[in-house]
Amino acid sequence: MKDVIILGIETSCDETSAAVVVNGRKILSNIIASQIDLHAEYGGVVPEIASRKHVELILPVIDSALKEAGIDLEDVDAIAVTYGPGLVGALLVGVTAAKAIAAALDKPLIKVHHIEGHIAANYISHPDLKPPYIGLIVSGGHSHIVHVKDYLDFEILGITRDDAAGEVFDKIARVLGLGYPGGPVIDKQAKLGNPKAVHFPRVNFPNGSYDFSFSGLKTAVINHINQARQKGEELNIPDICASFQQAVVDVLVDHTLKAAKSLDVNTIALAGGVASNSQLRETLQSRAQKIGMDAIFPTPVLCTDNAAMIASAGYYSFLKDEFADLTLNAIPYLSIGEGHK
Ligand code: KG4
Ligand code: ZN
Repeated sequence: MKDVIILGIETSCDETSAAVVVNGRKILSNIIASQIDLHAEYGGVVPEIASRKHVELILPVIDSALKEAGIDLEDVDAIAVTYGPGLVGALLVGVTAAKAIAAALDKPLIKVHHIEGHIAANYISHPDLKPPYIGLIVSGGHSHIVHVKDYLDFEILGITRDDAAGEVFDKIARVLGLGYPGGPVIDKQAKLGNPKAVHFPRVNFPNGSYDFSFSGLKTAVINHINQARQKGEELNIPDICASFQQAVVDVLVDHTLKAAKSLDVNTIALAGGVASNSQLRETLQSRAQKIGMDAIFPTPVLCTDNAAMIASAGYYSFLKDEFADLTLNAIPYLSIGEGHK
């Protein structure tokens, strides 16, 4: 079969990204313009600022992706774009650009679910990966355990009932005055601390549920910090970070391994921004190995938002002739797998 070249576009949150990927697995370019510095002074993403910045960046970023790949727009077989979930104004910039290119060049348009994109990042980092496997997707907006039955067939096994894992990392970092985004800095601090110094709660739901809840943990950590401050005690930041991170990792890994065991699936693929967390990677891999399972994850650059993962996910829709038309709209709330029904 002839190579399939897909231009991917991602603008769902605070990264403007365009990528060129061949056959869903080989990256020719993956340009990511991060707006993190712009949002850092507000301690989180400001939607209106994100949309405006995407408008400024989208065309230069697409141009750079084509240039780095050494191809023209005419060489592209299809355009894949994130259409949800995400910030509606941000999503609309990518969707509009993708529709304009598809219409102008009469190329097929593919709609991609952002979380399905995160999962697909594993196809790039692990070219031999094939479904079925269990996906653990943990980002700033989502925490999901998913049974990936086939490339376009997903069953959600567990979700967070309140905060996403990354959101809690960001919140705790803010309370500790460590800046935004919180994940990388907590990860670094935790390496210097004792994960058993403070016991923070781990929430499990009855009836074999794989769901998560992190808001109680968040409150417990904030209370611990406030109480220490009120007593005038010096905070041991590395110990707090290590203990908090251990609590998140324990729950994520416990629930994921339980789900994999019950479905008799032996491969676990980690994805999303929090998948960069060193302790999560190490713990999942070592505990999986002990029970004869394989845990894999994308390279760090493919864990955070990027368009290569969107192009990769789009390739599997391309193979099934699943195309969108020019009525495609941004959908801020969208369930995994919903777009394939
Ligand atoms: O996937 P992503 O780039 O954007 C969303 O779709 O949300 O994830 C961003 C999230 C942020 O909450 C950030 O703090 C977290 O991923 N993150 C980490 C690490 N690196 C990024 N969390 C824990 N440990 C890390 N090393
Ligand atoms: Zn994401």
